[in-house]
Amino acid sequence: GENSTVSITVVGASGDLAKKKIFPALFALYYEDCLPKHFTIFGYARSKMTDAELRTMVSKTLTCRIDKRENCSEKMEQFLNRCFYHSGQYDSKENFVELDKKLKELEGGRVANRLYYLSIPPNIFIDAVKCASSSASSANGWTRVIVEKPFGRDSESSAALTRSLKRYLDEDQIFRIDHYLGKELVENLSVLRFSNLIFEPLWSRQYIRNVQFLFSEDFGTEGRGGYFDNYGIIRDIMQNHLLQILALFAMETPVSLDAEDIRNEKVKVLRSMRPLLLEDVVVGQYKSHTKGDVTYPAYTDDKTVPKDSLTPTFAAAALFIDNARWDGVPFLMKAGKALHTKRAEIRVQFRHVPGNLYNRNFGTDLDQATNELVIRVQPDEAIYLKINNKVPGLGMRLDRSNLNLHYAARYSKEIPDAYERLLLDAIEGERRLFIRSDELDAAWALFTPLLKELEERRINPEYYPYGSRGPVGAHYLAAKHNVRWGDMG
Ligand code: BG6
Repeated sequence: GENSTVSITVVGASGDLAKKKIFPALFALYYEDCLPKHFTIFGYARSKMTDAELRTMVSKTLTCRIDKRENCSEKMEQFLNRCFYHSGQYDSKENFVELDKKLKELEGGRVANRLYYLSIPPNIFIDAVKCASSSASSANGWTRVIVEKPFGRDSESSAALTRSLKRYLDEDQIFRIDHYLGKELVENLSVLRFSNLIFEPLWSRQYIRNVQFLFSEDFGTEGRGGYFDNYGIIRDIMQNHLLQILALFAMETPVSLDAEDIRNEKVKVLRSMRPLLLEDVVVGQYKSHTKGDVTYPAYTDDKTVPKDSLTPTFAAAALFIDNARWDGVPFLMKAGKALHTKRAEIRVQFRHVPGNLYNRNFGTDLDQATNELVIRVQPDEAIYLKINNKVPGLGMRLDRSNLNLHYAARYSKEIPDAYERLLLDAIEGERRLFIRSDELDAAWALFTPLLKELEERRINPEYYPYGSRGPVGAHYLAAKHNVRWGDMG
């Protein structure tokens, strides 16, 4: 409103995430007139920089991608004028007191709401929270803190981090981001399921044979090996991004769309799952591969990665939900770096039609005749349903064809970046897409014993060539549960 203002401070302003995602998302929100009338943006980091230098840095990352409206450069100019910089240590109360002074000046006596985005490594996390909350929190409005993973690396360290955070903040001030929840097609998952009669009644073990959550990137850890080696693909992608999608997919119908109602259901379904065992996973690591004149590096060629690292850059896993809805249905995950393609999707494979008149048309390969619903989260967003169809003509031949909702063809407006949705929600106090601490505990409980065992027993990953489809072990894992990966053609 007229009488309040929001200050958004990006702590770690010169980092990669800030430059690539946070500032551009804030600009996109400004461009779309989604930010409050009175707002200021602060970059906070250790290096010395003037406001002008910050503006130059930020301006390099901004694009007018939304549509090429005439006034884009004008809007950019206005936006940049609201950006400021403060140089300080992350553990210095004094430096945060100085920030507080600058913020107060700009807030001009209005109700001052303050949002901190912590885009800094976990070892300085708590110090920054402590300083920001004690020296630069709002006196008369709200103070909220957005935090990014890693939220620890197992149950114990995550719980310790939560305990420390809660010394300085209440749970409702903490916004734990999982940016996959801000992706358009992940948000749409509940709409698809709960508002369509052709799907809602089918969403159970009675009709669904298995569900697959697939993530692949066609590049390695280039430049991020130092971070990655301490975490590995299971912590980097599965325990958070894929598990969050699974929880949304499999939860019971929430009482309402309120954040607490949704998060209650997510926790319940996570707590109904069995912790993973070693036999439920296959881990892999990419090795170098030469194609034509180009040699792609092995994971361990990264200078920041120890030569003898066993850290998985690929994993496949089979998970089970022990409740009435999902008893016996395999939920499979597959995530990997340096694979042949970049893609994230959800695949729902349905059961056979009992006594199908047309079974003989498929010969012995009945698997080919099951319906499959594919939700392609990225790139080239789409939802399509594989159905059996008669090939037109005088004969009676069937094939599988797609009913296809292709976003680019159906909707002309570009899809907002996940960070736009999440930043806007944090400003508006909408917690639906943020992770509550009990959800986080439940997520770690599923993976912690497995992660410990992998590390203590020094389990060797299966090596796969850079740019391939990953280790063959993933197929054996799936076959053990009578599943065929849906992304194999
Ligand atoms: C991050 C992981 O959380 O997600 C990265 O740490 C990964 O390793 C990234 O590359 C993928 O996000 P997106 O939005 O590019 O698919």
